[in-house]
Amino acid sequence: MKDLADDFAFDTDLKPEVQAFFDDATNTISYVVKDPTSTACAVIDSVMDIDYAAGRITYEQADAIIAFIEENGLDLEWLIETHVHADHLSAAPYIQQRLGGRIGIGEHITTVQETFGKIFNEGTEFQRDGSQFDALFKDGDTYQIGNMTVIAMHTPGHTPACMTHVVGDTGFVGDTLFMPDGGSARADFPGGDAGELYDSIQKVLALPDETRLFMCHDYGPNGRDIQWQTSVAAEKAHNIHVGGGKTKAEFVAYRTERDAGLAVPRLIIPSLQVNMRAGEMPPADDAGDVFFKVPINKL
Ligand SMILES: [Fe+2]
Repeated sequence: MKDLADDFAFDTDLKPEVQAFFDDATNTISYVVKDPTSTACAVIDSVMDIDYAAGRITYEQADAIIAFIEENGLDLEWLIETHVHADHLSAAPYIQQRLGGRIGIGEHITTVQETFGKIFNEGTEFQRDGSQFDALFKDGDTYQIGNMTVIAMHTPGHTPACMTHVVGDTGFVGDTLFMPDGGSARADFPGGDAGELYDSIQKVLALPDETRLFMCHDYGPNGRDIQWQTSVAAEKAHNIHVGGGKTKAEFVAYRTERDAGLAVPRLIIPSLQVNMRAGEMPPADDAGDVFFKVPINKL
């Protein structure tokens, strides 16, 4: 396993400013991360609101992020998707249309597009080459937010395209980890792999101990309040699935058994159809109307 912590100079003196936006409909946390030395910022994992029963899309969550960026006079440079989410819809194109910036995701999005292009019986007009995104990150790629250098680490297992983005003393882990008392995300989606997830988590835990880790989800286990920030040291010591030196075999056995009992996420069908298109809705029909497909007995 390539250990990126050896190849990249992690500058833990650099402390990006992080603003969280919690979506209580999907328990997703979106972030605005700002360069402390400039007006540059990025948005991580934005959320589009959906009333699935009504087939209605709105933008309260995204509008709150846009208002924050505008009120603080920030310049949006990137819209990052840590992965193709199965539980909420991205609002990246909506925010990009208003504020600019480039939409980036891991290069293995192409694997996800192949898989779900088939499941949703998409025609040839649905490109499986990631071209809907402005940037596809390889493991170890770096990019700038103002004067800050971000490194994208490939952390597959939950999905094949998952990336963890590390900037200064801050890591955005997507669904590679949950808070210590939440453990880890499921690894049973098509292309997911519990063993890979364990290896990816070790890559994150190899970051400097003081690295601040920001979660994409929190469900407030055992009735505690919602939290989204922890540290490498806290995860190493206390994570209920991987902390305290749990072995890969222990993790894979636990994760596999647990995943077998989990229900399919409520919004997986609309989420995948939007998120595999970089947050765009499926193409409209001749009358200009937009529909989701519901594949029967495919998920
Ligand atoms: Fe996820």
